[in-house]
Amino acid sequence: MTKHTILYDTDPGIDDALALLFLARHPDIALAGITSVFGNAGIDTTTTNALYLASRFAPDVPVARGAAAPLQQPAPEPIAHIHGNDALGDVERIGRVDKQTDGRAAHRFIVDTVRANPGEITLLAVGPMTNLALALKEDPEIATLVREVVVMGGAFGFHGTLGNATPAAEANMHADPHAADIVFGAPWKMSIVGLDVTHETVMTTAFLASLRDEAGAAGRFVWDVSRFYERFHAHGGMSRGIYAHDYSAAAFVVARELYTTRRGPVRVLTEGIATGLTIQKPLSMPETAPDWDTRPACDVCIGVDADAVLDLFARTLSN
Ligand code: BDR
Ligand code: CA
Repeated sequence: MTKHTILYDTDPGIDDALALLFLARHPDIALAGITSVFGNAGIDTTTTNALYLASRFAPDVPVARGAAAPLQQPAPEPIAHIHGNDALGDVERIGRVDKQTDGRAAHRFIVDTVRANPGEITLLAVGPMTNLALALKEDPEIATLVREVVVMGGAFGFHGTLGNATPAAEANMHADPHAADIVFGAPWKMSIVGLDVTHETVMTTAFLASLRDEAGAAGRFVWDVSRFYERFHAHGGMSRGIYAHDYSAAAFVVARELYTTRRGPVRVLTEGIATGLTIQKPLSMPETAPDWDTRPACDVCIGVDADAVLDLFARTLSN
């Protein structure tokens, strides 16, 4: 029986692709759709990648094209040094892509899917939050109709880290801080999986090599696309593999017992040198803070059993 019906909002992206493999293979997950958003590359590239990944690994799942730019800023220049020119590690592609995008824009697709399945849909968002903010603008009531929202983004300083795109901002928050602040302020059940736990969850070279050798075509794909990402991480001083950013949010949906969380409303700074910084007011804090106090509480991940999270990935891909 399907336990989680997930709509996957993504900017593929190498780690987005790894998360999609997990979603497509986990027995308790049904994918209701994939929505693309700009981020790790421009919207043409991320949508092309979503179609390719769906064709290979989730052929019956519809793909809808999403936002090309943040809510209040122009589209960013493409970046190639993290995920490659094609944002999937510049490796040879396998098979034909005969999928087309759904005719609807991603935010419309989100609204329609949530309305058609009240109380059922988990929105899993692992890119800039633009599509979710646009969906809320179009139909604010969806906040009461989703089952929950799980986001990869942000950093709350638990291990001394506040950002990866800037010293003060994680990439998905930095890409569209206005959208993120809207999404964290909506009255839906919200969990945030940020750098505090993804930097603790490292897919080492040995781990990736064992998938290559033991997890068939999926494992080979993981190895191939992660070569570029691993070189990027090594350039940043990390010699032992890649961070499991987007997969961590997918793992949280099915195995939240592997995470510890802190509850409280979250704001995202939208201007200044710390644009994209995420700040939570813990519920345990007695002081008044009007910019937080009127907003709903979110669960922020602050600890993880990383070995178990990685084991879940390996077992799911190998089955
Ligand atoms: C996030 O930024 C993107 O580059 C990754 O795909 C992930 O969603 C990590 O900060
Ligand atoms: Ca991503």
